Amino acid sequence: MASAPDRRLHLNLFILGCGHHKAAWRRPDSPAERIGDITYFEELARTAERGCLDAVFFADGHAAGNVDGGPMWFLEPLTALSAMSRATERIGLVSTVSSTFYTPFHAARLLASLDHISGGRVGWNVVTSMFDTEARNHGYDHMPPHQERYERAEEFVEAVLRLWDSWGDEAFHHDRDGIFADPDLVRPIDHRGRYFQVEGPLNVPRPVQGHPVLFQAGSSEQGRALAARRAEAVYSVAYDLSSSQDYYRDVKARIARAGRDPRSVAIMPGLVTYVGSTEQEARAKQRELDELLPTEESLQQLGMFVEQDCTDWELDAPVPDLPPLEEFTGPKGRYGTILRIIDSERPTVRQLLGRLAAGGGHCTMVGTPEQIADRITEWHENAGADGFNLMPPSLPGGIEDFVDQVVPVLQQRGLFRRGYEAETLRGHLGLARPASPH
Ligand SMILES: Cc1cc2nc3c(=O)[nH]c(=O)nc-3n(C[C@H](O)[C@H](O)[C@H](O)COP(=O)(O)O)c2cc1C
Repeated sequence: MASAPDRRLHLNLFILGCGHHKAAWRRPDSPAERIGDITYFEELARTAERGCLDAVFFADGHAAGNVDGGPMWFLEPLTALSAMSRATERIGLVSTVSSTFYTPFHAARLLASLDHISGGRVGWNVVTSMFDTEARNHGYDHMPPHQERYERAEEFVEAVLRLWDSWGDEAFHHDRDGIFADPDLVRPIDHRGRYFQVEGPLNVPRPVQGHPVLFQAGSSEQGRALAARRAEAVYSVAYDLSSSQDYYRDVKARIARAGRDPRSVAIMPGLVTYVGSTEQEARAKQRELDELLPTEESLQQLGMFVEQDCTDWELDAPVPDLPPLEEFTGPKGRYGTILRIIDSERPTVRQLLGRLAAGGGHCTMVGTPEQIADRITEWHENAGADGFNLMPPSLPGGIEDFVDQVVPVLQQRGLFRRGYEAETLRGHLGLARPASPH
């Protein structure tokens, strides 16, 4: 089935430290020493741009996390993307910004500045954040309740959009004998809400894209509702095609009910890939990383997920039988994923630990470039995905493999662009620029 032009695949690179596999930093040639070095991130962005990807993406958290467990956060994303924008020309630059910890004015200003610096390549992943350890760095004892976080997020987005619109596109006159900017086209917003009071206008002119592109990645009822009303692209989590189809159907229907065109919003599940010139070589890459996992610690963590002692489980033997989901009394989300992995892949204990250590519940594809392109095509053609958020298990090798080996196959099949056709991230995603309100 040939793809219509508007259904071409979208690909993002989700950049995380030395890669998405928890043991990636332990490889002898890992970039562990470079994760505070901006040239490392510039190189990753250039590799992704060589593959004509839509965007690179940074997640973000506001707590240091467990420093023994390997690299988590280092450079602040918007600061890093600012430098990366100067090392690239076309690729989109997506940053997470939390609606729980920032104020709308601060977020609008940072994102608008980066949109100007990058010539219109910015995306904003709106998150409500998750952990009390983050909240305690911002004057709270714990996270505000989930419902309240999303109410605040709704109001936050509204205020940010209005701040971006506080300048008209035609505000500047640059008339050396007259006025610099037209005061009638730079207006306060006078936002008076439950969580924020924002007078405006913003102190940065309207972004190049009008509005940087809004991304959303929450999967709860409230997260999906926010996505339906506001998201222009979505990062999702799906273990297999059928779970992705369920999510895809639900969110696209919600977007339609919100009066928007569901085809305009790209849904991109996370995708972990191990690419090899043979399937055997790809599996060897996966095994090599899995073998670097510290076993005692990983077995202890698995024990917490399945609520039983796993410390004496034989690493290279099949995973012992586990009780069905209905009988499990702990948190069911991750346990359900573990049961699905066991059911469909029949892994050894070591393989299960590896799967959980690389992307957890995200889809994993292991094989030759053609095999991976086949499965990508299958998801794309069967309403499972409009594209993927690539989560290479190790960096930089994982994205080099994908760009050099999988992208050419996707291009030959007419599924993916051979060169950039647009200047902005909105353009890459086929999204219109919002009109200036005044
Ligand atoms: C690909 C992806 C990236 C995410 N990045 C972040 C992040 O950087 N920071 C964050 O706090 N949450 C992040 N999340 C989590 C969600 O955006 C959301 O906050 C979380 O799932 C809780 O919301 P929910 O209850 O609606 O699912 C991410 C989720 C996905 C799927």
